[in-house]
Amino acid sequence: MRPSIARALAASALAALPPIATADPFPGADHAAGADMHTRQCVDCHARKYGGEDGSAIYLRPDRRVTTPSALSQQLTACTTMLKLDLFPEDEHHLAGYLNTRYYRFE
Ligand code: HEC
Repeated sequence: MRPSIARALAASALAALPPIATADPFPGADHAAGADMHTRQCVDCHARKYGGEDGSAIYLRPDRRVTTPSALSQQLTACTTMLKLDLFPEDEHHLAGYLNTRYYRFE
């Protein structure tokens, strides 16, 4: 079988599968938008205080505060409120989805 045909068959087999059920705690979050906001508004301060060039140390430290999806939402809102960022709830949702996928990995 030619490789291109094999690929096409494999792709259609995958497409025919039912979607895998995952319990994403932040469904539909726009991770690209979250990543963008995070880079612009969150990294500097976290990196200054907790290190990690990309500001990731704060999320990965052993005694991190966030241990559940709702704690993530709460802590995130605490930061945005403290900063008076006035984000829309959708934006916080995008940020939470991004941080969860990238660091916390709650299901
Ligand atoms: C002016 C500084 C500052 C900025 C800017 C900031 N934060 Fe924070 N953030 C903190 C501090 C300080 C903590 C640690 C709080 C603690 O441990 O008591 C924290 C903790 C967090 C945590 C919890 C980390 C853990 O321990 O698991 C999350 C999530 C978080 N911030 C999200 C955000 C997001 C999202 C933004 C950008 C919209 C942001 N923060 C911007 C200062 C900041």
